[in-house]
Amino acid sequence: MDIAPEKPLIRLVTCGSVDDGKSTLTGRLLYELGAVFDDHLAQMQKEGQVDFAALSDGLSAEAEQGITIDVAHRYCETPAAKFIITDAPGHEEYTRNMVTAAADADIALILIDITRGISPQTLRHIHICHLLGLRRIVFVINKMDLVEYSRIEFNDISVEIDRLIDRLGLPDGCVIPISAVFGENLTQHSARMPWYDGHPLLQALLAPLPQKRVFDGFLMPVQYVARAPNDRRHYMGQAISGRIRARDPVVILPSGQVSRVAQLAGPDGPIENGQSGQALSVQLSDDVDCARGHVIASADTRPQMADQFEADIIWMQRSGLIPGRAYAMKIGAQWVNVRLAAPKYLVNVQTGDQLAAKSLGMNEIGRVVITIDRIIPFVPFDLSHYLGGFLLVDKVSNETAGAGMIRFALRRAQNIHWQGTDVTAADRARQLGQAPKVIWLTGLSGSGKSTIANALDRALLAQGRHSYLLDGDNIRHGLNKDLGFTQADRIENIRRVGEVARLMADAGLIVIAAFISPFAAERSMVRDMLPKGDFCEVHIDAPLQLCEARDVKGLYAKARRGEIKNFTGIDSPYEPPQNPDVYINTDQTPVDQAVALILEYLAH
Ligand code: ADX
Repeated sequence: MDIAPEKPLIRLVTCGSVDDGKSTLTGRLLYELGAVFDDHLAQMQKEGQVDFAALSDGLSAEAEQGITIDVAHRYCETPAAKFIITDAPGHEEYTRNMVTAAADADIALILIDITRGISPQTLRHIHICHLLGLRRIVFVINKMDLVEYSRIEFNDISVEIDRLIDRLGLPDGCVIPISAVFGENLTQHSARMPWYDGHPLLQALLAPLPQKRVFDGFLMPVQYVARAPNDRRHYMGQAISGRIRARDPVVILPSGQVSRVAQLAGPDGPIENGQSGQALSVQLSDDVDCARGHVIASADTRPQMADQFEADIIWMQRSGLIPGRAYAMKIGAQWVNVRLAAPKYLVNVQTGDQLAAKSLGMNEIGRVVITIDRIIPFVPFDLSHYLGGFLLVDKVSNETAGAGMIRFALRRAQNIHWQGTDVTAADRARQLGQAPKVIWLTGLSGSGKSTIANALDRALLAQGRHSYLLDGDNIRHGLNKDLGFTQADRIENIRRVGEVARLMADAGLIVIAAFISPFAAERSMVRDMLPKGDFCEVHIDAPLQLCEARDVKGLYAKARRGEIKNFTGIDSPYEPPQNPDVYINTDQTPVDQAVALILEYLAH
């Protein structure tokens, strides 16, 4: 039986700034490709001129505001290929949607208005398409009708684009003069531009694409686990790369446990072979630890494991990247915690130059070293968007903070093993006869943290408990004497203290930590480092005026005189806990009562 070869599926993303004529082009292209419903068209023709922008603007909000604000996908089919056309929003605010739109595309269509030249936003889009590894970038010079189809004007802009292609090292590209409104050079050579000897747009889109590099190994993220009648578990998911056969050896990631495929099934029952794109159900021959979010991979070609990477990041949050802070990161199906270093460089989108930078602001792009709190399986982004692309989320506000692409691992985590120990945290706690805890006192300088922490330490000792007090001033004399009071140093201060508190709690102790710890994100990071329920956040609150009046160490006076910079409450912020486990206002609560409140909380 003859099977007609599959038509290629081409994913196209259209980019350009507001008013470059993107919606008109998409509409016109859909019309030329015959993809517009006839009744829709007849209705519009009855109303007068066909408005091609309205054909492609499916979203009411974008029609109302006159700008494209969300990602819109359109599908159409020609005798030669199928197309999915995604419109990347042109507006500066919507870089996030631009990234979403371009992430899976093969070809970027960059639209430039000949009367206005290349806008900074379009340059940013070109960079993003390049970072995302699109295989072809087609520059479409629109509104040629407005310059009387001038060859000279087109040449000027093409020279500029050629320079850009060279400078950025862009892939395979071409530059096409068009008029979207009049359909010139879209599907056929335009008689109005006889001097142009390249392809019209449609042919440029259909030309064979360079081969896509992909990860060879089999990968299937587990989406669902079901128990079969024979008590074996079925692991279900969609294969995202490679092939698998029944009886093939596999490895479960991240645990690294090895097993074999006992049985393979598709939606219609058992099968012998499975491959990328298929929905599969896998039974394994061993009883391994495999759950939703884990990945089943071929044992011979498997992803690497690491916890530190160099990545390109596109920052999307209004407040810039904060070096040292922990962000939530989604990679594959996994959520992990990640810390970002100050960027190695920031990309100037106008020139392509790599600039020194301390942070990345909204819409900025840079190369950053990232450190994850555990070892994860990964594949560089070039080979797998699934295990190499990630999203960053602000842990306090839950906003999307950025998107990134793993380029390579900095150190192979295989070289540093986690040494298992025989005596567990539970053994130690049992021996000490107590439940370990970290009691975290946060508040302004002079609010009374150290006083209450001391009294609490004494009270615990009197009760026969084993406690240890970590105090900001003291730790800064030793472990953290290299740190000052910039935002980055305070974040690092709390990270180290968090690690120490964790070790001490692991040793069975009740840890009292008294630190200003002004940022909600770091306090929540310490909470996440500990077993659930072991972190107790106590807000030691007092009005700034009162702390300043107390001024035990004379520091507020110095800060007011400008002799100390970055003083909390004066010229450095304090983010009070929104929902502390214990709240103590030292303006009204005497020390013994404060201690009693904390002990009461610990008792239940
Ligand atoms: S934190 O912000 O990083 O958590 P930490 O609690 O360790 O601060 O240290 C705060 C102590 O350092 C204060 O009690 C105060 O004695 C002293 N100090 C010196 N300079 C500053 C400053 N600029 N801001 C706040 N505290 C300071």
